[in-house]
Amino acid sequence: MGSKKYDMVITGGRVIDSALGFGKDAHLFIKDQKIAAIEANSPAIQRVLKTFDDSQIVNAEGKLVVPGLIDVHVHLREPGNEGAETIESGCRAAAAGGFTAVCCMPNTHPRIDSQETVKFVQDRAKNKDARVYVAGAITKNLEGEELAEIGDLVKMGAVAITDDGYYVQNPAIMRRALEYAKMFDIPVMQHAEDSLLSKGGIMNESYQSTRLGIKGLPAVAEEIAVLRDIALCRVTGSRLHIQHISTKRAVEAVRQAKKEGINVTTEACPHHFVLTDDEIGKEFNTNLRVHPPIRGAEDRDAVIEGLVDGTIECIASDHAPHSTEDKDAEFDRAPAGMIGLETTLALVKTYLIDKAYLSWADAIRKMTINPASIFGFQGGTLEVGSVADITIIDPDKRWTVKADKFRSLSRNSPYIGYRLSGKAATTILDGRVVFSGK
Ligand code: DOR
Repeated sequence: MGSKKYDMVITGGRVIDSALGFGKDAHLFIKDQKIAAIEANSPAIQRVLKTFDDSQIVNAEGKLVVPGLIDVHVHLREPGNEGAETIESGCRAAAAGGFTAVCCMPNTHPRIDSQETVKFVQDRAKNKDARVYVAGAITKNLEGEELAEIGDLVKMGAVAITDDGYYVQNPAIMRRALEYAKMFDIPVMQHAEDSLLSKGGIMNESYQSTRLGIKGLPAVAEEIAVLRDIALCRVTGSRLHIQHISTKRAVEAVRQAKKEGINVTTEACPHHFVLTDDEIGKEFNTNLRVHPPIRGAEDRDAVIEGLVDGTIECIASDHAPHSTEDKDAEFDRAPAGMIGLETTLALVKTYLIDKAYLSWADAIRKMTINPASIFGFQGGTLEVGSVADITIIDPDKRWTVKADKFRSLSRNSPYIGYRLSGKAATTILDGRVVFSGK
């Protein structure tokens, strides 16, 4: 051992790897952009550490050292809406939030429904502060009418297909999409919101929507969409991934489908386990407008239960940047979506871990090895030989969300002013520090 053998060492942290099933105090050594060794403290290791230059040491005392976090649902807005976000700024936001890898959605302009657009995003994502995986479209122009050239998209490197933002309303097209995806062994990600039932809806259909006189988006639109796709998946044997699940009955449908052995996975977003639609009438903050909408307490609790019992494997942000000009409108005229890359980790800590719903190991699993395994990404583990994508977390750091601190180009967060706990201290991508909270 010795400093020549390694490029960097992360010392004194508590290393958590949900894939390998451990949490232990250890030093983590990096060489050639790979995890080279994980060693418990000892006099011999202390002697080795003395041979390192200060510049090679990242001190993680009092911190958690975990695999780089992975977010399978982000909107990077490039090409087409670079005022709201670029791939570069989105990756900077990811790194600041502790994410080393993101999967971007195809609802850009133009849509990511061709080899050229996949390639464009991949080229723009080179040498940025996070890895960018690309989800291609299910249908051309996300119009739900004609399948995109799925084989071409996969050949170019698309890791999944989705029409996110839109539900594939036509079941025959969805069935074909599932069959194609099966041939290429990729998941179909579904924005599960029946468009006929939810047409014109602005917020959750509830007591609150009635009180406020705002047109509702009914929970049954999600339930029907999820049940239909599970039925299709039962027939095709394909891999279905339900995006941003938000209702009690949808969670229950997925739970039952899993029991039956159907290959369905799902993700939950912080706003569906933190917020309820009671918030909307307070200030009509347009950053609370989102699809699927923030629901009532019963649905929020069911999402938490799904996270606790493993029905929901992934936590994803659905980072959806919109410019301040666009969001500065009446509630029903503002575009739906909120940014999330820089607040997800702290919301998980404050609302799931501190409330004892999840342990750190459970939470990290849903943000590392689970998404990595479902989507076939590298990383997600600190196993020796793995890529050196690492997040160092200050687990109890108290901080206030401030608009001017976001790395994202957009400011559309409903959490501005929230006091949260837990923050990424250092983010390492390919053995290179891409974010340091200092
Ligand atoms: O609120 C949302 N915004 N939900 C989506 O599915 C799309 C996203 C966006 O692109 O703004």
